[in-house]
Amino acid sequence: MSVDLEKILRPIDHEMAPYEPKYMMLASGEAVVVRQVFRDEIPDLLKHVEPLIHVERDYYDVVASRVYAELLGYYQYRFQDQYVLALQVDGELAAIVNGRQVNPKLGLSLHTLALRRGLRIGAHGFAAKMEYHIDTLGHDEVLVVAESPIGFRRWMIEYKLEKRFETPHELGGVPSWALTRELFDRARSKLVVGRRPVPPELLEKAMEKILPPSDPPTPPLDPLAATRAMYDPTATSLVQQRWEMEKGMGNA
Ligand SMILES: CC(C)(COP(=O)(O)OP(=O)(O)OC[C@H]1O[C@@H](n2cnc3c(N)ncnc32)[C@H](O)[C@@H]1OP(=O)(O)O)[C@@H](O)C(=O)NCCC(=O)NCCS
Repeated sequence: MSVDLEKILRPIDHEMAPYEPKYMMLASGEAVVVRQVFRDEIPDLLKHVEPLIHVERDYYDVVASRVYAELLGYYQYRFQDQYVLALQVDGELAAIVNGRQVNPKLGLSLHTLALRRGLRIGAHGFAAKMEYHIDTLGHDEVLVVAESPIGFRRWMIEYKLEKRFETPHELGGVPSWALTRELFDRARSKLVVGRRPVPPELLEKAMEKILPPSDPPTPPLDPLAATRAMYDPTATSLVQQRWEMEKGMGNA
């Protein structure tokens, strides 16, 4: 009997209302457009996420590796109920955010990745996805975790997230935090900005093509510079230390 294995491997996504694009002005005076990215455009994101896998600073390596896997999983129909939003300045990719629906009342925040720094573009992306979960998808709450101290400041502290430590988050099984509808309503006037509809010329530019980020985070010229920095016990430095120890044992 022949079995179409792909039918078993491929999850069937639940219907989710699309994200309605919006735009906002940055402190630099530029407009940033937030819009949904569907499956066929995922390869255009992957090529800009891959270089960040090699950037240790601010945990870009961990977050970019996970985002790469999530986007590839979405592209190849191996991820259930995921959505992806892109933030673009004049077509250029400035941030990526993604998440998924766990059930009709519960959302789950996956990642926020800023490819342009210093303008709160990542913070705007996070606010946009919370808005999508609460206002569009009608979730009562969204489970969130932080993988970096900047992320912790931006989400747990700025939104005053509630602990849901009894619930392991899908990202590594670590204790979850939650953004409830009530917390979101309290943050709305301060943290959630943007206008709709997006002026047609701005939206067309964003939809036309995802252009490469003009100033993305890059690894330091000296690859060991970050690991030498005090208070930087990153995975890479630990792995390198271990290799050094193994070399020593081999010589003994
Ligand atoms: C977390 C993240 C999305 C926040 O994005 P953001 O809101 O646009 O904020 P930035 O990262 O640009 O800036 C964060 C802080 O670092 C400072 N900063 C760091 N590098 C900077 C740079 N190259 N230029 C300017 N500012 C920089 C900013 O001044 C800012 O300080 P503030 O918190 O006092 O405002 C982003 O830092 C990121 O993608 N980090 C790596 C992945 C990650 O940790 N994701 C979240 C997982 S929970």
